[in-house]
Amino acid sequence: MSFAFQVKNFDEYKQAYEKSVADPEQFWSDVAEEFVWRRKWDSVLEWNFTQPDVKWFINGKLNITENCLDRHLAKHGEQPAIIWEPNDPNEQHKVITYNELHFKVNQFANVLKNNGVKKGDRICIYMGMVPELPIAMLACARVGAIHSVIFGGFSAQSISDRLKDAGAEFIITCDGAFRGGKDIALKAIIDDALVACDFVKTVIVYNRTSIPVSMIKGRDVWWHEEIEKVEAQGNPVVHAEEMDAEDPLFILYTSGSTGKPKGVVHSSAGYMVYATYSFVNVFQYQPGDIHFCTADIGWITGHSYIVYSVLCAGGTSLMYEGLPTWPDAGRLWDIVDKHKVNILYTAPTAIRSLMAYGLNPLEGKKLDTLKVLGTVGEPINEEAWHWYDEHIGKKRCPVVDTWWQTETGGIMLSNLAGVTPSKPSYATLPLPGIQPMLVDEQGKEIMGNDVSGNLCIRFPWPSIIRTTYGDHERCRLNYFAAYSNLYFTGDGCYRDAQGNYRITGRVDDVLNVSGHRIGTAEVENAINMHTGVLESAVVGYPHDLKGQGIYAFVIMEQLPEDAQNMRADILQTVNRVIGPIARPDKIQFVTGLPKTRSGKIMRRILRKIAEGEMSAIGDTTTLLDPAVVEDIKNGRV
Ligand code: PRX
Repeated sequence: MSFAFQVKNFDEYKQAYEKSVADPEQFWSDVAEEFVWRRKWDSVLEWNFTQPDVKWFINGKLNITENCLDRHLAKHGEQPAIIWEPNDPNEQHKVITYNELHFKVNQFANVLKNNGVKKGDRICIYMGMVPELPIAMLACARVGAIHSVIFGGFSAQSISDRLKDAGAEFIITCDGAFRGGKDIALKAIIDDALVACDFVKTVIVYNRTSIPVSMIKGRDVWWHEEIEKVEAQGNPVVHAEEMDAEDPLFILYTSGSTGKPKGVVHSSAGYMVYATYSFVNVFQYQPGDIHFCTADIGWITGHSYIVYSVLCAGGTSLMYEGLPTWPDAGRLWDIVDKHKVNILYTAPTAIRSLMAYGLNPLEGKKLDTLKVLGTVGEPINEEAWHWYDEHIGKKRCPVVDTWWQTETGGIMLSNLAGVTPSKPSYATLPLPGIQPMLVDEQGKEIMGNDVSGNLCIRFPWPSIIRTTYGDHERCRLNYFAAYSNLYFTGDGCYRDAQGNYRITGRVDDVLNVSGHRIGTAEVENAINMHTGVLESAVVGYPHDLKGQGIYAFVIMEQLPEDAQNMRADILQTVNRVIGPIARPDKIQFVTGLPKTRSGKIMRRILRKIAEGEMSAIGDTTTLLDPAVVEDIKNGRV
């Protein structure tokens, strides 16, 4: 599809930006007109950031799946909606057209209905990267259920915490998932999670790996058997549920500075409008383009830029089941050539890890269909940016560095491919509709250029977080309480002499490991659960591949005799409590932590030690026991 809201040159960008600030309601109303609605909105926006309470497209009615699927059928029904590339290069890939995707979503929506799913129910999805994952998400949206996708790297304990928080009575999972050389037993992890969740009524299991699974009578059903029942019913048409613009579309859990992940809630209409607007503009998507986002759908990037925006735009989304480096480091490039990919969107971590293999894996790869390259999730260092630009884009493809967050729903700061200038390691300029602002610790605006501060947004955009599920006060405290009348991102930021924005990293206790957000408090809670651990403090440190690594300082009741063994045991506990993604890279056993007289841990000191910057530790005289710092320095691992 083509959209009138696609800006085509720098002047159009400037005009759109100015209009979006001067008259946001008219601006977004014009954008929203290009979508399919059951009923048009009465007014465009009501908002305050105090409670917070933000509503877009008030009393508008729609179903997002009619935008993702139905509207494309008449003209583009035979166009590929999803191209699926399996983990194993020897397995046949799949191409699913819009007609087929529409049919499959309808079928699975019937499965949900047959199992008693109703509008507003929460459904947890814990699957590998198979086409049935977006099919399940879209089927939920079709019947008005709220999906909560959980990334496959989270443990049973994390899943059960999320199930309880969301009150999810339905789960959709796979027997297992293929990831590189590994076979991950997803259903077994769900079974462990459900020991503590007897409120779960139904688990629908898709057979992907055919590993043995235990199917509990009265609770667990096979995906394919449920589909057979729908076929026997004659595949009745599921009328898409009419949703209010503000009805929740999904919950996605993410880490913050407290020990408990929060369920970020996105709306049906605002999310759709902004995700699609940003996709079409940032990547300069053209009809027929093949878009390959390498993220896992378990993260916001996959939600927005594998599933919802690409399908709303009538594009073709390539999803890949496996890892960039398996079976070899040329795998992504083979996929690009095989499927004639035009837009490649990946994370700096992936680029850095592929860079480490040198140029051999690129030999014989054409990469000549690529038009646009993108990065997301963490600051990209200049070296990785240039490598991507030179060796993958052959200096022909604009590189877009896209800054955004789970809470923002879509890309907020980014150059627009070929339309606005790029600058290595800079996210550059705000998208139309986005009003960034830098503030000092007191919340005073930092004006002018060549300045640094905390990044805030001063005006709502359509896909702003609506609430944290079940706890609105938490949403207020996390994002709207630090500075009055502003959304606070948690990121530090520099604005250069030309007004380009460069994200410098989190200013709260949140780590960004391989582009994944991990709260230090969560990791500490997990470590503290290990027997014999008295206390722990976790900080980040620069890591060549992951961006940030996790460094844990741990006090045990008794210093372990076999430190290596104890480290392995603690890692196992973190695996169990959160999942492999939160495993510390380094664990140092210490006898004390640097604390102020009021008992607060001075993380700044621990960070410096973890970074190896011993000389920059600074003043320690305010500490309860300054000698502890020397001990920690000496025992650094
Ligand atoms: O610190 C910023 C970093 O990732 C955080 C958001 O993480 P998450 O909600 O998991 O979403 C990641 C994918 C959108 C931000 O607060 N971040 C994201 N993109 C960039 C970035 N840091 C620098 N440059 C980026 N392009």
